[in-house]
Amino acid sequence: MKVLFFGDVVGEPGLAALERELPRLKALHRPDFVIANGENLDLTVPGLGRAGMSLESLERLLALGVDAVTGGNHSFDPPDMEAVLAHPRVLRPLNYSPHAPGRGALLLEKGGQRLLVVNLAGRSALPLADSPMEAMAQLLAKEPGGAVLVDFHSESVFEKLGFAFLFDGRLAAVLGTHTHVPTADARILPRGTAYVSDVGMVGPEGGMQGYEPGFLVEALRLRLPPRGLELRWASGGVRLSHVLLHIEAGKAVDLQHSYEVLP
Ligand SMILES: [Fe+2]
Ligand SMILES: [Fe+2]
Repeated sequence: MKVLFFGDVVGEPGLAALERELPRLKALHRPDFVIANGENLDLTVPGLGRAGMSLESLERLLALGVDAVTGGNHSFDPPDMEAVLAHPRVLRPLNYSPHAPGRGALLLEKGGQRLLVVNLAGRSALPLADSPMEAMAQLLAKEPGGAVLVDFHSESVFEKLGFAFLFDGRLAAVLGTHTHVPTADARILPRGTAYVSDVGMVGPEGGMQGYEPGFLVEALRLRLPPRGLELRWASGGVRLSHVLLHIEAGKAVDLQHSYEVLP
């Protein structure tokens, strides 16, 4: 089974780049499943720095043949988050409040292949999250066998590595998201779990994690949303960060991490 996974898709620049590039990548690699992290697809409340995704952008991703759209801390940003999270192809972190709408795991089935996609968040990205280790253990106890891919959304390499080694051999992949910065550490752990600390973004370079620095720098300085400014996407070349994963019998046999900036 082959899987293409794209890290945090940032805004119109990221989405438009995927619309240009994904048909070519699909023809080249013929993946069974395509997954993308969509927590930065839109600026849902730019004056407050809120991201998340709209149903319109979600439909554009799905029209490209994306099978599942994962999330993170920004899953709960949109004012209409209930409508977005109710979509059957959308995931948000599994280990969040029991009152949160939506789902944290999704079983994909196509052409006789099955892949369980799980979205988890570390507390460094989502401070009120429950333990991702406990949530994963509980889910595995309910879901015997099969290939499992985890989008682990966290600021911390330490947290992501510890999680991946705990579940090495029981998960096909632990793919890090959230920082938008690709890490040069893709590998297959000793018992067969593919791992990368952060896949990186599908989004524009030149600023801060795909955004213009203005709003974010002031928000950091003031520790408040700066009045009179809005969060905007950066305007540099788009970095197309993704992983191509080959899974056999629930374990990874090959992992290729790419993060080139498109011309
Ligand atoms: Fe993100
Ligand atoms: Fe995030």
